[in-house]
Amino acid sequence: MKFFVDTADVDAIAELNELGMVDGVTTNPSLIMKSGRDIREVTKQICDMIDGPVSAETVALESEGMIAEGRELAAIADNIAIKVPLTWDGLKACRVLSGEGRMVNVTLCFSANQALLAAKAGATFISPFIGRLDDLNIDGMDLIGDIRTIYDNYGFETQILAASIRTANHMKEAALIGADVATAPPAVIQAMANHALTDKGLDAFLKDWEKTGQKIL
Ligand code: G3P
Repeated sequence: MKFFVDTADVDAIAELNELGMVDGVTTNPSLIMKSGRDIREVTKQICDMIDGPVSAETVALESEGMIAEGRELAAIADNIAIKVPLTWDGLKACRVLSGEGRMVNVTLCFSANQALLAAKAGATFISPFIGRLDDLNIDGMDLIGDIRTIYDNYGFETQILAASIRTANHMKEAALIGADVATAPPAVIQAMANHALTDKGLDAFLKDWEKTGQKIL
C-alpha cells in the first residue's frame, strides 16, 4: 500500500520523506488554510520535495470552473493530481482533465456507486472518506471493500485512495482490505510505530543492561 501524507505542513512531509514514508501528498482547502500559506507557493514547494503525486483541490462548483482551476493547478508542477469533488460537475471535469492526460483525484466519495462513476469518468484516484463515515456510525472500511470488489470485477485501473484516515488501525484495515493508497496525517503515520509492549520490553532491557555495567560506545 502506498502512503500519501494528508497535510500541507512541509516540515512534517520532509521528516517522513527522509524515512521513505512518502509516496505522495494530499491537500485540500482546509489543509491549505491550516498551513496559513499561499496555495501556489506551498504546493510548488511540496511538489519539489517529493517525486509522487501531490493532490491540489479545485474550489469551483461548476465543471467549466473546475477545469480552468485544474489546468491552473496542474501548471504548478508535473506531479500535480487535480482534486475535484464527486458531484456531477466534478465527474464532467474529471473526464475532460483525465482526457488531457492529467492525474485526477475524485474526492469526497461516500458510496460505491459514486466510486463506480469516478472510474468510468477516468479518475486516477478515488478518495473514499473513512473517518467521516465512521463519525456517522457507518463502517467506512466496508465502503473500501465494496469499491475494491467492484473495481476488481471489471478491471478498473482507478486507484483506491483511502482518505479521512484518523487512526493507525484505519491504516491496518485499509492495507488488509486492499486499498491501493492511504492518505493520513503525519501523526497517524508516526503512531503506527507505537506499541505498549515495545516500550515495556525496551524498559526491561535497559534496566538489565544498566546492571551489567557495560557500554557499547
Ligand atoms: O483526505 C481527506 C481528509 O483530509 C479528510 O480528513 O479527518 O477531515 O475527515 P478528515
